Amino acid sequence: MRTDKRKIALVGTGMVGMSYAYSMLNQGICDELVLIDINRKRAEGEAMDLNHGLAFSGYHMKIYAGEYKECSDADIVVICAGVAQKQGETRLDLLKRNASVFESIVQPVTESGFNGIFLVATNPVDIMTRITYSLSGFNPKRVLGSGTALDTARLRYLLGESLRVDPRNVHAYVMGEHGDSEFVPWSQAMIATKPILSLCGSGGEDDMVCREELKRIEDEVRGAAYRIIDAKQATYYGIGMALTRITKAILGDENSVFTVSTMLRGEYGQNDVYAGVPCIINKNGIQRVLSLSLTEDEMKQFGKSCDTLRESFQGIL
Ligand code: LAC
Repeated sequence: MRTDKRKIALVGTGMVGMSYAYSMLNQGICDELVLIDINRKRAEGEAMDLNHGLAFSGYHMKIYAGEYKECSDADIVVICAGVAQKQGETRLDLLKRNASVFESIVQPVTESGFNGIFLVATNPVDIMTRITYSLSGFNPKRVLGSGTALDTARLRYLLGESLRVDPRNVHAYVMGEHGDSEFVPWSQAMIATKPILSLCGSGGEDDMVCREELKRIEDEVRGAAYRIIDAKQATYYGIGMALTRITKAILGDENSVFTVSTMLRGEYGQNDVYAGVPCIINKNGIQRVLSLSLTEDEMKQFGKSCDTLRESFQGIL
């Protein structure tokens, strides 16, 4: 039975999970955070380490290592458990190993009586979220993944740097797979209410240079995780902060828009696939999918990305 306290259960206390927990504590997003991990000693150590910093955070949060039964009254269960990408691996390469891990996570969560929202970050996140939906039997509106929310933030940062505009005034999205087939629908990208493509002019040398810069940025977003992994073996701060922001939107019933991974049921001409699209997020999870007016080529790119995801999911469960 859920109460009015804001309770989060985190499954997986590796670097992504604990970056999320650290960000949640320092932003005061919830009242209670239970850390669940197959390595109970690790979860206990992480809880101790965070609790010792409580006095400096300016917030109060009950943080403890727990078991799946403690999910029963949680508002959100955040799943970060599983193996992470290593150098040279794609996110899809992790699928078989993480699918078997999820078989041992989702069932005990649902058996606890949990009736909140699943937020999945484990890669390949779109397929792991689809697996969570299938294993839990929950309404798909209450099973979402971090999707391309981090990719969208990377895009806005890079566009802000290139155009010298605060990223908060850059309105542009990354859609599709959180992975190699993701893409940017540039026809929908804006600076304030000005289409970014209109900055490129129409034809001629300037137009070509401008479109080359946009392509460079899109490629840099798509390859960001590989570069970070090459430099420091893993990514975790960005995704931890993205998960925190999505959690805040759910707990705060914000109706904010994020490109999370959601089940498509006809939107963009796609069915029975989880992919990153702009969604309105509130206390119910996915309130609504935003259908953007993509160009024919953008629809083709999105379809290709969804086909990649559907093919990868085949035969997993
Ligand atoms: C990244 C991981 C979260 O893109 O897939 O950093």
